Amino acid sequence: MSGLRVLLLGGGGREHAIAWKLAQSPRLGALWTAPGNAGTAQHGANLPLRTTDAEAVLALAGELRADLVIVGPEDPLAAGVADRLTAAGVPVFGPSRVGAEIEWSKAFAKQLMRGAGIATAHAEAFEDAPSALAYARALGGACVVKADGLAAGKGVAVCADLALAAEAIERALVARAFGDAGARVLVEQRLQGPETSAHAFTDGVTVAHMPFSCDHKPAFDGDMGPNTGGMGVYSPPGWLDAATARAIERDVTERTVQALSAAGRPYRGVLYPGMILTADGPRVIEFNARFGDPEAEALLPRLRSDLLDICEAVAAGRLAEVPVEWDDAATVGIVMTAGGYPGGYVTGAPITGLDAVDGDVQVFLAGTQRDADGPVRTAGGRVLCVVARGASVEEARARAYDNVRRIHFDGAHYRTDIAARAGAAVELRG
Ligand code: AMP
Ligand code: GLY
Repeated sequence: MSGLRVLLLGGGGREHAIAWKLAQSPRLGALWTAPGNAGTAQHGANLPLRTTDAEAVLALAGELRADLVIVGPEDPLAAGVADRLTAAGVPVFGPSRVGAEIEWSKAFAKQLMRGAGIATAHAEAFEDAPSALAYARALGGACVVKADGLAAGKGVAVCADLALAAEAIERALVARAFGDAGARVLVEQRLQGPETSAHAFTDGVTVAHMPFSCDHKPAFDGDMGPNTGGMGVYSPPGWLDAATARAIERDVTERTVQALSAAGRPYRGVLYPGMILTADGPRVIEFNARFGDPEAEALLPRLRSDLLDICEAVAAGRLAEVPVEWDDAATVGIVMTAGGYPGGYVTGAPITGLDAVDGDVQVFLAGTQRDADGPVRTAGGRVLCVVARGASVEEARARAYDNVRRIHFDGAHYRTDIAARAGAAVELRG
């Protein structure tokens, strides 16, 4: 029997990690990634494609005679790509448009959580600035203003006082800085506490939890500067106790999958609740309908089982039949970005030192491209993620930084404090 033909959508470090893991499957016949990057090109051809155009995705899947389509990012999900493929009988890993609404509408996510009794920050949705501002005032000024729709991670403003909240409300609702995604905003209670990402595979019935992981969103050391797509990651968080972890799995992830099914939105793919651990217990701050990036880069190297088997089983609604096992190693991923990101940055810089990294260290490429026989060059804001393993997060961290220092490109930036407090006991403040 010849192997499975797989089309992977996306072009970030997450998709390189997915491609790298799929390539380890003895059942993989051929892999194409659209649009891909210099990393995915190591495991199969990259193809140009507007991945939010459902008809174009379906046509390409047909041309390639794909047995499975795996959707990496959220935009194709929100555009209904999974629905179109499913209707045409093409197996797809990734939820339907109404399943993914849990990510593309924060107001819908709140409504679902309210109905299912899932603990989350208090929030209200508004379409006019004066009402939004009145609620921000009622919350005491300090609050979080969130564009309702998808804003590439830039639609959230954590505001220290009412003046900053007023600015954020004005930017979204009046200046329309996020376009239609910000035509409605959520004004949310500001929570205090450490953050962690929960991830699970699910076919809408069976839920296979992944280890917990932690992203670092701000651009600079000490959590200073603007939020980015993610500057680094570690797994597992040593500070997260087993009882709390289990409570999140049961009372958030599993309950959400059940609530989506009960609402007639059966969910197939990765569900990723973002959590803040407050003194009053864990609270959901957002849901994502896909793997986190860079979380995927830290999680997939810990997956012992065959990712292709899992994706195929999720798509077919028989996840209960395949093993999903993780190893005990710790992983740390350091993201290298182009200088200036998340603001303006230059691209096209050659990257050197990629062949100087240790054999068991993964460099997952993100915004990169390579001309025939030329060097790998930068082609985006987040350029790559260096992931090392260790018996502890401390050991993985030391190895990751040792390897990051061997890689160079003009203007390269990375944080030096990723996972620095991964093992520390945390004090929860009320
Ligand atoms: P998001 O784009 O929803 O992941 O939010 C970006 C970041 O904003 C999160 O990683 C948190 O650090 C922060 N954030 C979101 N919601 C809240 C909240 N209710 N309280 C405090 N911080 C928050
Ligand atoms: N790591 C954050 C995200 O993927 O949304």
